Amino acid sequence: MTRIFSGIQPTGRKHLGNYLGAIVHYVAGQDRGEGIYCVVDLHATTVHYEPAGLRESVNDTTATLLAAGLDPERCVLFRQSDVQEHTELTWLISSATSYGDLTRMHQFKDKSGKQRDLVTAGLFYYPVLMAADVLAYRANEVPVGDDQRQHVELMRDIAERFNARFGEVLVVPEGRYAAVGARIMDLQVPTDKMSTTGGTPQGTVHVLDPPEAIAKKFRSAVTDSGSQVVRGPDKPGITNLIDILAAVRGVAPEAVEAEFDGGGYGAFKQAVADEVAEYLAPVRERYAELSKDPAEVERLLRAGAEKARAIAQPVLADVREAMGVGPRR
Ligand code: TRP
Repeated sequence: MTRIFSGIQPTGRKHLGNYLGAIVHYVAGQDRGEGIYCVVDLHATTVHYEPAGLRESVNDTTATLLAAGLDPERCVLFRQSDVQEHTELTWLISSATSYGDLTRMHQFKDKSGKQRDLVTAGLFYYPVLMAADVLAYRANEVPVGDDQRQHVELMRDIAERFNARFGEVLVVPEGRYAAVGARIMDLQVPTDKMSTTGGTPQGTVHVLDPPEAIAKKFRSAVTDSGSQVVRGPDKPGITNLIDILAAVRGVAPEAVEAEFDGGGYGAFKQAVADEVAEYLAPVRERYAELSKDPAEVERLLRAGAEKARAIAQPVLADVREAMGVGPRR
């Protein structure tokens, strides 16, 4: 069975781009294979952050994932720092990681440029921790956004180099890149990706926004000249709305174009507003239920960590054995 692994940052409120680009694929992964999903609190410490808020962010992100349909009976959902195998493997695979490759990581360059005071060594090492996340489970598939391509290539290189040097111990994972999430744009600036940090408030739809707020954001979405509901390079606003409605309905964008052909922008925008609000409403309701009971979310995370550890421990034992580290088995 395909083993799927992905990690999600516990930072920021999740928006529609995160939801359609990542979270719905995690949920679908539960039926396609063995899904292992990790809230990466250790990655969150690589940039400036508030310690007082981190646990709450982990809890909120976990509750969002559960509300979206991750089912702890059918997947493994856990907090990264609960499974110490991740940090140990980070060190061990360092000996199969090229320093030069790390110096060429785009995300490090972007994020380090944004830090106000300290650029941490942890930020530089982020991709190695991410590789360890996946390699500790011998996962086959890694569903991520397009921005993570270089990190996935790095983890593949690490696994290949490790196996060549120490023997066939690790699985070389494949990236699986979501087509849709990569394309969800800010509703006010449809040439920019929807984003937690860089977007406009009115153009960013949060998963937990109340239905009226969602509908309002869509009704005030920027559209383009003309009146035809068709995609095109000169129509970034309408293209984005078509892609969003298609993703929410699980149909091809052509089907949306055909349905709204000749109807004008007004009716189309209203339809997108209503349907997205309706689509996210049950997630918001389940989230509200879960947030009344943080102890339950904590209990689920701990139970998830038990399951994760049971998978990662034997892999770590193989890695140590192959590397000649520690006592002979
Ligand atoms: N770097 C990923 C992101 O920002 C999050 C992540 C951490 C991850 N560890 C992972 C994704 C392992 C996939 C697999 O989106």
